[in-house]
Amino acid sequence: MMAASRIRIRAAGLAQARVVALLSEYGSTEPWPTQAVARIFGLPGCWGLLAVRPGGEPAGFVVARVAADEAEILNLVVAEGARRKGIGRELVAAALEKARQSGASAVFLEVAADNPAGRALYESAGFREVGVRPDYYRQRRGNYIDALIMKRAI
Ligand SMILES: CC(C)(COP(=O)(O)OP(=O)(O)OC[C@H]1O[C@@H](n2cnc3c(N)ncnc32)[C@H](O)[C@@H]1OP(=O)(O)O)[C@@H](O)C(=O)NCCC(=O)NCCS
Repeated sequence: MMAASRIRIRAAGLAQARVVALLSEYGSTEPWPTQAVARIFGLPGCWGLLAVRPGGEPAGFVVARVAADEAEILNLVVAEGARRKGIGRELVAAALEKARQSGASAVFLEVAADNPAGRALYESAGFREVGVRPDYYRQRRGNYIDALIMKRAI
């Protein structure tokens, strides 16, 4: 099994917008087109981190935004074949560190109530549920799922 420590975490910018868009197809929400990723990276306070395997292959990303003393994780995806190796945990840890360095004292995120992997990862990273947005996500088959708002002080 590949150890997460062999993964490198790099800043993702405009040049990586397409890679992030491709990885977003493994995500729990609608995939992000390259143009959308590029637009997000152009917004004030928005940034991304890419997890790269030893051979250079991208394995996952996190995108976040920092505004004043609050940060928000906007998306986090690990490619299907690369899961359960600690990469998600490493991306969250790197995002928390970057958010802290950027002046944030708390990090927020939204996760679908029916996403056990995401919820378990965030809980193990110290996030706690602070609210619910009822029927926030519309699923492909047309039904609605609550979003849980989670928070962690940093
Ligand atoms: C959620 C996601 C990012 C986890 O990435 P990952 O690299 O597989 O996670 P890690 O290997 O770092 O797992 C860390 C911990 O999270 C929890 N976890 C991860 N996947 C899990 C799963 N499928 N079921 C239950 N717990 C899980 C476990 O506690 C795990 O620790 P352990 O392996 O020691 O038991 C990945 O499943 C993914 O990309 N899913 C689709 C997108 C998504 O749901 N993103 C989050 C909401 S935006």
